[in-house]
Amino acid sequence: MKKIHALSHFALCTAIIGVGFMNAQAADETIRQLAKERGRFIGTILNSEWFNDAIEPEFEEIHKTQFNVVVAENEMKFDATEPKEDEFNFEKGDKMVKYAQANGLRVRGHALAWHSQVANWVNNYKGQKQKLLAVLKNHITKVVGHWKGQIAEWDVVNEAINDDYNADWRSTNSVWYEGIGAEFLDSAFVWAHEADPDAELCYNDYSIEWGLREGSKASFVVEQVKRWKKNNIPITCVGTQTHIEIAHETTPQNVRALAKALAELGVTLNITELDIGFPKGSAGKLTAADYAKQGHLYRQFMDVFLEEPNMGEFVIWGLTDAHSWLDEQQGKTEGLLFDKQYKPKPAYDSVMASLKAHPASEVKTPYPDSILNPPDTTAKDTTVKDTTVKDTTVRDTTVKDTSDAIKMFAIPNNISIHIAGRTLFVMGTAAKDSKVEVFDMQGRPIFSMENSKGVFDLSSIADGLYVVRVRSGSASLVTRISIR
Ligand code: XIL
Repeated sequence: MKKIHALSHFALCTAIIGVGFMNAQAADETIRQLAKERGRFIGTILNSEWFNDAIEPEFEEIHKTQFNVVVAENEMKFDATEPKEDEFNFEKGDKMVKYAQANGLRVRGHALAWHSQVANWVNNYKGQKQKLLAVLKNHITKVVGHWKGQIAEWDVVNEAINDDYNADWRSTNSVWYEGIGAEFLDSAFVWAHEADPDAELCYNDYSIEWGLREGSKASFVVEQVKRWKKNNIPITCVGTQTHIEIAHETTPQNVRALAKALAELGVTLNITELDIGFPKGSAGKLTAADYAKQGHLYRQFMDVFLEEPNMGEFVIWGLTDAHSWLDEQQGKTEGLLFDKQYKPKPAYDSVMASLKAHPASEVKTPYPDSILNPPDTTAKDTTVKDTTVKDTTVRDTTVKDTSDAIKMFAIPNNISIHIAGRTLFVMGTAAKDSKVEVFDMQGRPIFSMENSKGVFDLSSIADGLYVVRVRSGSASLVTRISIR
């Protein structure tokens, strides 16, 4: 009931009408909805281009329709949040938190103590242990404190282990380790916990999907988690970044083994930065079989994720191959679920297939209800609403679709929509300035038109189920329609 109360009267009306208007099952078929039903969080980053308003509109539409957890690609890192000593910049992070709240997404915070993307001024204190401790404590206290209660989980320490065959702490090129020693990690967890006792706190790293052989990075992580738990260091989760390549076929089962080892310690394992890239040189030469293989790997990761009860989040490091750090920095390419034109790839279908093959009744969640259904913080702004998810809370409505030819939706501010065959009419005082957008059920925009005196010809749209958004001034209506 909590959710229903949280819906504005306006949104509730559209939700009820929407359910009566179409097959509710089909509307649920987004990754987001299937994840939510399973008590899990699946998401992608918001790329830096999004923060700079330099990304195609499809990006956000797909992002908020398909996913229920979000993380900033760069905007919550040290250099972004504390560019000058004790002068904090939370603007971009706030933008994401607001977006997440408006769209019901869980937020991961990334990352507090990391050797990379540290602001330059920190290097002025190289080797000065007490000063560096004070700098790190101040940073963590102020950043975590700023978003207290709004960020569900922090990567407290990122990539602190070296790449040697016999894993140990990263002792070079880390201003924190070189100046403070390994105690910077323990301290970072304690300070983060003090600043937000309810936040989950993770150790996050790459190459821990390579198995638990002696001397491996993964084994080292497990040993440290044991030590942290024994010493009451408040760690609750490990993040496996999992930036892999198409040839890395053993990694899903390695992640399963790591999850099981951490389960024994009462710690969650999250996949935090997954991408499954092809070698860059293969761009333009990839075949259907290659994409299917990529899908198969995504599917195996999703299977492991859903089958291991101490896994909670599955985050992919990007949404579209058009915006990915793989091409820019990694000599890899096309590692994500959507292609450069925002079309879902076979990997998307594989993820969906895995979710459907694991019924909600069989998937365990590591989270209590208070986390799965937090109090609604959605602002009462109705301009952008994701009804796809909200509708599920009112699915037991008895409102039924009564007429095939003409549908009418009324909203309180004197706008109504009528659909007659393939013509959509916007009625009411503000109708002539209205804008109509139609999205498919995966959130991809397929039609957009404005200033047409309230009459919109939808004959270019194929039969099917869609979400329509009508905006006029500050009023907005989002609902689902069926075109036949
Ligand atoms: C990457 C970003 O995607 C790039 O834009 C940035 O230039 C470098 O960092 N591990 C991490 C992430 O923890 O923060 C990194 O993100 C990718 C590797």
